[in-house]
Amino acid sequence: MGLSGGAGAMFATMGALGLAPTAAAAAPAYRAPSPGDFHLTGRGRASVVVLGGGVAGLATAYELGKAGYDCTVLEARDIVGGRNFTVRGGTTETDLDGRTQRARFGEGVYLNAGPGRLAQWMVTLDYCRELGVPIEVFTNANADALIYNEAAGMTAPVRFRTAKADVFGYVSELLAKATNQGALDAALTTADKERLITFLRSYGSLGSTLAYTGGSRRGFASYPGAGNDEGTPLAGPAALSDVFASNVGRYFSFELGYDQAMLMFQPVGGMDQIPKALAKAVGHHRIKTGAEVTDVTDSGSQVAVTYRQGKATRVLRADFCVATLPPHLMARVPHNLGTAVTAALAEFGVTAAGKIGLEYKRRWWEEDDRIYGGITETDLDLQHIWYPSYGFHGRRGLVVGYYNTGASARTYSALPHAEREARALAQGVKIHGEKYRSELLSSWSQAWDRTKYLEGAWTSPRYTSAGYQLLLQPSGRVYFAGDWLSHEVAWQHGAFVSARSAVTAIHQRVLATP
Ligand code: FAD
Ligand code: ALA
Repeated sequence: MGLSGGAGAMFATMGALGLAPTAAAAAPAYRAPSPGDFHLTGRGRASVVVLGGGVAGLATAYELGKAGYDCTVLEARDIVGGRNFTVRGGTTETDLDGRTQRARFGEGVYLNAGPGRLAQWMVTLDYCRELGVPIEVFTNANADALIYNEAAGMTAPVRFRTAKADVFGYVSELLAKATNQGALDAALTTADKERLITFLRSYGSLGSTLAYTGGSRRGFASYPGAGNDEGTPLAGPAALSDVFASNVGRYFSFELGYDQAMLMFQPVGGMDQIPKALAKAVGHHRIKTGAEVTDVTDSGSQVAVTYRQGKATRVLRADFCVATLPPHLMARVPHNLGTAVTAALAEFGVTAAGKIGLEYKRRWWEEDDRIYGGITETDLDLQHIWYPSYGFHGRRGLVVGYYNTGASARTYSALPHAEREARALAQGVKIHGEKYRSELLSSWSQAWDRTKYLEGAWTSPRYTSAGYQLLLQPSGRVYFAGDWLSHEVAWQHGAFVSARSAVTAIHQRVLATP
């Protein structure tokens, strides 16, 4: 291609390949079970008991239901959705430590305590379309959001636009000068060098001497106005060495991730619109909440699932079972599937994550700081601050005051709610000033490692282990599903595609069984 058509044709072909459905070609396209599949075979619908009413469990019942399977979902919590959990005024929860919170958020204010964003390629958006869940843009990257690196000696935050201008500028200056000094002669032709310099001039906003000296890209202390008002540029830039020492560049690659890049989306009105719509489509009469599974026994011809609901203990029998509990919890449920299954379930690492929703009486981040959605990045243990991508210019609003993972999350989850709030406020004040504390109305903190029936945010599978491979196969009449059995852990996409795998396997088995 390169020889016959030249560089332009080569480049165009590379681009076109990127658009070709190569992934779809590799994995067989999903086809939902349909009533028509039974017409020729004469097989009857099977009954299926689904353990767990998170996204994977609900999607399993929804997809099997399309062909008329008789599904029952057993969910231990009082609501469906699992980690897809949206907190609103009136939401109440008691954690593993016996601490109860009750949200006091105002009308229309919510916190997506678990999932918050969806990438355009994710199957989750297909379910939103199919189920009629409206979506809106989630602002995942915002040039006007802030960076605050305390350990680097920063005493005030810097906006992303300024930090990027300076880092891109200085990196471009260095590379352009090195190129001109012949440092890259072994790698570049004369024409390549010219094109690289042309690119760097624009990418780094370099002057005629290839020096970076700042410019309008950094933003203004006072923006340009009428008549002769050219605006007041921000002071700076700092010297090259100081810019690198500030370590602001560590946050720039985030928005390049295939799973995190703009545009991102969210359901209008809260992420839990997805499980709510799934539950409606499945049929509420098929879902038992407050039903904690306590035993799974495969008799060879049926699966018997014991569950506790209130004071009652009941047994449900079905032809098949799909278990979507988090693996570390499923490992503790007594069963007769063998010790290898228990060992495989127990081998998943579990990550902690936490969020706090801070409701304010005024949207000061929009009014004062001119930040409309997006994420402020810090080296504090609050890690990330999210500004809302809904309710712009409304009266109240909710900021995610921390979204942290790992050791930082555990630092907060060990504290009672009031102390989590106090710690989050003390850190946020460093970035936004006293209003961060004084204008607060109410808050809710979610510590996923201390949340009943979940005990973690997400897991880390060992994809090549025999245990992981074992759980991809049915254990007798019991199938497993959940984001933990996918290569998209920590995304609902993983839960959906894993559910589809279990559904396809059960349907094929039912159609093939004499
Ligand atoms: P779960 O939601 O864990 O469902 C398991 C269900 O089993 C739960 O409902 C649980 O209550 C139930 N259960 C447990 N024990 C029992 C029992 N004994 N009996 C009966 N039921 C039981 N995804 C995105 O798409 N976008 C994001 O931005 C995103 N961000 C995230 C941020 C955080 C902080 C977290 C925690 C998750 C995030 N995710 C995100 C991941 C997403 O939430 C999950 O991938 C998805 O919700 C997993 O669904 P699931 O059904 O596999 O598991
Ligand atoms: N997928 C999760 C997020 O984007 C971890 O926050």
